[in-house]
Amino acid sequence: MRTLTLVLQCVFVIAFAVTPFAQSIKPMMKAIVIHEYGGPEVLKYEDVPRPEPKDDQILVRVIASGVNPVDEAGRSEKSAKFFGITLPFIPGYDIAGIVEKTGRKITKFKTGDSVYAYLSLTDGGGYAEYAVATEVEAAPKPKSISFVEAAGVPVVALTAWQALIDTAKLSAGQTVLIHGGSGGVGTFAIQIAKARGAKVIATASTANQDLLKQLGADVAIDYTKAKFEDVAKNVDVLLDSVGKDTLARSYGVVKKGGFIVTLVARIDQAELDNHGIRGASLGVEPDSNELTEIGKLIAEKKIKVIISQTLPLADAVKAQKQIATGHTRGKIVLKVADEPK
Ligand SMILES: NC(=O)c1ccc[n+]([C@@H]2O[C@H](COP(=O)([O-])OP(=O)(O)OC[C@H]3O[C@@H](n4cnc5c(N)ncnc54)[C@H](OP(=O)(O)O)[C@@H]3O)[C@@H](O)[C@H]2O)c1
Repeated sequence: MRTLTLVLQCVFVIAFAVTPFAQSIKPMMKAIVIHEYGGPEVLKYEDVPRPEPKDDQILVRVIASGVNPVDEAGRSEKSAKFFGITLPFIPGYDIAGIVEKTGRKITKFKTGDSVYAYLSLTDGGGYAEYAVATEVEAAPKPKSISFVEAAGVPVVALTAWQALIDTAKLSAGQTVLIHGGSGGVGTFAIQIAKARGAKVIATASTANQDLLKQLGADVAIDYTKAKFEDVAKNVDVLLDSVGKDTLARSYGVVKKGGFIVTLVARIDQAELDNHGIRGASLGVEPDSNELTEIGKLIAEKKIKVIISQTLPLADAVKAQKQIATGHTRGKIVLKVADEPK
């Protein structure tokens, strides 16, 4: 009789492991999921299975997830195709959280480490309680800032760094004009340029003039009241995150041999040639080493993170509506879990 009971128990355990029952015990999580293209209202707050880290990935328990203009990519058929995104898709590229589990090939991180990361544009996954990241995408979170602040860093800080340092080779004593100085990229660009020893001219609307100064801009231009080309002339480097007319008028303010980087358009080679300047369009790439360097500047208090709004994960629709205005001050962050004590 005992043997029969044991056999029956074994049969039950095996059957449980291989049937749909097993799926129901798969760990689940809350996430924002896109099932169809459309406006922010297609973002749905749902229960989905937790991701499992591959050998070269860490699983991160997300505390906060940063919001960026590019997060709309999964909702737009054109952008989704461009980035290789397939639906259903969890948006979000900026995360800060705690390593829950590590893949077999992970050497840089261990369970319990605090990290921040810029996730791949194809995979996203940041608007969720758990997300996976590679060692190239993640870096140790700066200890001096909260997880909410850390989630506002990766995409925009890497963009500013790759534009000013890697691409335009900004050096001490040079003058840089930063358009959109009060936005996500701009707030980091001003501070990275100042830390580099450059003179900074930055543009924003009237309400954000105080912020430009607070971040260290030497000259703040209110683009609603003045033409930037009347104030900024012969700059060595120009960072454009606005495009269109602003970019068209920017070629003329860069000195001969100077450099213009745009984040939002294809650079116009004919304009570069006309003005005897160089230039590039930039697509930001994950870079763990650069994220670590940025973390050092944060620890040294040379960079502060400006968070204008923190919303719960379930309010992703509201967050994406705000970022789509193109007039966000600093960063918006989705709070996914309480800050660990
Ligand atoms: N290529 C890449 O790899 C890359 C990477 C990151 C971002 N981007 C793109 O770069 C752009 C900026 O990103 P973000 O995260 O900084 O956006 P954001 O946080 O929404 O900031 C936009 C900022 O632009 C300012 N602005 C709007 N119109 C302006 C004008 N005519 N002149 C000067 N400033 C103006 C706004 O300030 P006011 O409210 O004061 O007007 C706002 O602070 C977005 O289009 C984003 O998609 C591209």
